[in-house]
Amino acid sequence: MGSCPSCNEWHTFEEVEQKKQSSKKHKVDISDGDSVKPLQLSEISHRAEDRVSTGLQEFDRVLGGGLVKGSFLLLGGDPGIGKSTLMLQLAKSSPDKTILYVAGEESPSQIKQRASRIGLKGEKFLVYANSDIEQVISHAKKLKPDLLVIDSIQTAYSTNLTSLPGSIQQVRECSAMLQQVAKKEEITTLMIGHVTKDGEIAGPKMLEHMVDTVIHFEGDQRQLYRILRGIKNRFGPAQEVGVFEMKNGGLFEVPNPSELFLSETSDNVSGNCITCIMEGSRPILIEVQALVAPGAYSTPQRTANGFDQKRLSMLIAVLEKRGGISLAGQDVYLNIAGGLKISDPSADLAIIAALQSSIKDIPVKSGNIYFGEVGLGGELRRIPFVDMRIREAEKMGVKKAVIPSGKTLNGTKLNVESCDHISQLKI
Ligand code: TYD
Ligand code: MG
Repeated sequence: MGSCPSCNEWHTFEEVEQKKQSSKKHKVDISDGDSVKPLQLSEISHRAEDRVSTGLQEFDRVLGGGLVKGSFLLLGGDPGIGKSTLMLQLAKSSPDKTILYVAGEESPSQIKQRASRIGLKGEKFLVYANSDIEQVISHAKKLKPDLLVIDSIQTAYSTNLTSLPGSIQQVRECSAMLQQVAKKEEITTLMIGHVTKDGEIAGPKMLEHMVDTVIHFEGDQRQLYRILRGIKNRFGPAQEVGVFEMKNGGLFEVPNPSELFLSETSDNVSGNCITCIMEGSRPILIEVQALVAPGAYSTPQRTANGFDQKRLSMLIAVLEKRGGISLAGQDVYLNIAGGLKISDPSADLAIIAALQSSIKDIPVKSGNIYFGEVGLGGELRRIPFVDMRIREAEKMGVKKAVIPSGKTLNGTKLNVESCDHISQLKI
C-alpha cells in the first residue's frame, strides 16, 4: 500500500519483522521420562471401571451404563439442536454431582435464564465464563468436579498460542491438555464440538481419535424429537441411541420411541406402510409414506426425504423389472414420517409395499407391518434381530407381520407371513 487508509499520508508504512514462535512445537508434555517400562499384560492391574449414572436413562444407555470416571468425551451436533440444554438437563437429573460448566458461547445470565426454564436450581452447578484453557484447568484441578463440561471446544484457547480460538492448532492443543486432565486427575471431561455442514465434527479428525467416546446429538430443528447417538465408545456399545423430545420445559426422555413415531399414522391413506428399523439394539416402529403421481416433466422426479435417494431409485428399478410394475412417466416421492433419517435396509420391503399401495391407490391393510431387505433380483433377504422387531411390533398392537422366510418364531401371537420375492407381496 502506498497511502495509509487511516491517515491518508503517503509512505508511512514501516516493515516490522514478525517474531519467530518458539521452536518447541508442543506445549503439552506427555512423557513421564524414563520411568515407564513395557509391562506384561498379566502384570497390569485393572480396576473395574467406575460408572456414574447421569440420571438420564437415555443418556446412560448411549454411554453403556453411565459416565466412566476419568473418561474423555466429545458431544457433537448442529447449532441449536440442544447440546447446551442437554448439559443443563444432566445437571438437573444428577443434583448431587459437582459440575464445572465452562461457558464459551453464552453469558452466565443467558445460562441462568435457560436453567430456570428447565427448572434447574443448580447448587452444585458452577458456571465459569472464561475459555482460557490454562485457567479452566487450574480451576478444575482445585475443584475436582465430578464432571467438567467445555461448551464448546471451538471457543477454548490457550494464551501460549497465537492462532485464533477455533483454529485447528488451538483445538488440538486445548483438547490435548484436557485429555491429560481427564487421565491424570481422573476428572470426567466432556467437550462440546461444533459440526460442519456435512455433519462431521469441526476441527481435526484427531479430536475423535483422542477421546474415549464420541456422541452425536441429531434431529430435525423443525421436529420435536432428538436422537443421541453413540459413534465411538471405548467403554460400551457403539451405535446405541437415546431418544429425547424437545419441549417448552427442556428435553424429555422418550422411553418408547415407537409410540412417538407412530402417534400420527393415518391408516386409510394409500402409500403409507409401517416398518421396524433397528437403531443400535433398539427396535423402532416407523411409518414410510410413498406417493406416486403422474409426472409434470419428461424426466420423472424421484425424491426421498429421510432415506437414501439412490436406494430409492434401486428399489423402483427392482419393482419395475422384477415386480412387473411400470412407473414410467410417474413422479415418486418417499417420506419417512416424523422427520427421521433411516439407513436400515430392512425398511426396503415396506417401501416396496408403500409404492405398490400408492400406484394401485389401495391403502395397506391396517395393523400390518413389513420388513426385509430387497435384493436386486427382487428376492427378500434375511435381516438380523427379527425376534426383537416382532416383539416390538406386538407391543405396539400390530396384528400381522410380513417378513422374509427362514426364521422360526416361537411364542408370538402375531400372525407372521413369510414372503420370498416381491412378486408374492400382497398389500
Ligand atoms: P441449545 O441447547 O442452545 O443448542 P446448542 O447448544 O446445541 O446450540 O438449544 C437451544 C434450542 O432449544 C433453542 O432453539 C430453543 C430450544 N429449547 C426449547 O425448545 N425448549 C427449552 O426448554 C429450551 C431450554 C430450549
Ligand atoms: Mg450451545
